Amino acid sequence: MDLHVSLMGRRDLAGQIYQQLRAAILDGRLRAGEALPPTRELARRLEISRNTVAVAYDRLTAEGFLSSRVGAGTFVQETGPVSRGAPAASPLRPRGIWNEISAWPAWTPGVRWDFRAGLPDVRLFPYESWRRIMAGRLRASALDDPAAAGDPAGLPDLRRAIARHVGVSRSVRATADDVVVTSGIQQALDLIVRVLLEPGDVVAVEDPGYPPAHLLLRAAGMRVRGVPVDAEGLRVDALPADARAVYVTPSHQFPLGMPMSLPRRRALLDWARRRDVVVVEDDYDTEYRYGGRPIEPLQSLDEDGRVLYMGTFSKIMRPVLRLGFLVAPPALHRAFRMARYVSSWHAELPTQAALARFIEEGLLARHIRRSRREYQARHERVAELVDERFDDLALIPSAAGLHLSATLPDGTDDARLVRRALAEGVGLFALSEFAVTGPVVPGLVFGYGAVARPEIDIGLARLREVIAGRDAPGPAT
Ligand SMILES: Cc1ncc(COP(=O)(O)O)c(C=O)c1O
Repeated sequence: MDLHVSLMGRRDLAGQIYQQLRAAILDGRLRAGEALPPTRELARRLEISRNTVAVAYDRLTAEGFLSSRVGAGTFVQETGPVSRGAPAASPLRPRGIWNEISAWPAWTPGVRWDFRAGLPDVRLFPYESWRRIMAGRLRASALDDPAAAGDPAGLPDLRRAIARHVGVSRSVRATADDVVVTSGIQQALDLIVRVLLEPGDVVAVEDPGYPPAHLLLRAAGMRVRGVPVDAEGLRVDALPADARAVYVTPSHQFPLGMPMSLPRRRALLDWARRRDVVVVEDDYDTEYRYGGRPIEPLQSLDEDGRVLYMGTFSKIMRPVLRLGFLVAPPALHRAFRMARYVSSWHAELPTQAALARFIEEGLLARHIRRSRREYQARHERVAELVDERFDDLALIPSAAGLHLSATLPDGTDDARLVRRALAEGVGLFALSEFAVTGPVVPGLVFGYGAVARPEIDIGLARLREVIAGRDAPGPAT
């Protein structure tokens, strides 16, 4: 390791080295077992005599901080618990808003049946082909050419592949130039806020809705206004007159699950045009559709260029890759590219290159086809079980994505139910957790992305016992 020692003047050099090494060992920067540089090497680096370094090492050895083994070198000894952190006392404080923001959700460990929405099944991921392609891209030295690399909007190959992918699978109208590669939908929304909105702007969101988006908007100083949804999606007639932007999940309302009807989509676009409002479309999981006629995204119905479309690879690949994208009209290309640039220059390149290849080789389409079959079977099983075995739950019709929701009778404390289910190893979300201003009808959200089929039956039987324990005691069948 390249050990940092700095010497001042020419006095007591051995003492200075001793003090610095001792401090480094005590505060944990140097850990037990680590090798120190040989005396000759450290002396050469510090331009002092070898003997001076040896005096410091000898003293540390005598005090039990170091030990030397002939022929092997000098090593740090175990010194008991140490801690090193930034100074605890600091006059610096975050802006007030950061005291109000907490990560969502709080992932509790110990969940045996994980029905928490948002998780795909990473066991379905085609590891072998991804590993092969990724290994090839890591060797592709062209990526390291500073002249070629680092377009803030993303690797051109990937932008082309994404434009084709969303064009074919979602009928989104996009060329490669319209695509900005982001670190997930979360960053796409962050860029939209930076490029188009000002602190204090009113942003209308669905109520119930997706908490991470609301947190981001609030952290950026937006005034977030919840707008009720009904069976057709966002209630356009309830949009606040002063909204500057509307954030929606029209293909698969999060968390309720129904799509926004075509008349409602048209009404929203019409409303937005009349009031000159930005429409942000979050299309997070509708590559998975299990029936019904797909409704065109707002982006492809929009004649006015005011819809910003966001997609993600978190569900169809893996959330840990943190890859998503934004489709924007030409007037915004430069600003988005610059916003991406100032925030982190560009997304990591080897993964972008691998994903481009993965899409081009047809592997993404194949992976989606295969996992869709599996998710459809799970979707149907959850729907069947909820319908047949849970008298109190009313399913909300939905034919896409990785979760289903069901409502509970008015007045049910769904959050309490969820806490009790968690104690039994069943993880799921309550609809009330997604309330913005509310009130929101009580209910449960069943994510089936991470629960394999036989486990769905067992997990839901367990949940049924929890619910029965609350309502009327009765055996599970
Ligand atoms: C409504 C909604 N938007 C976006 C995402 C995914 O975001 P990201 O691409 O940041 O992982 C999710 C994931 O659960 C979601 O439910």
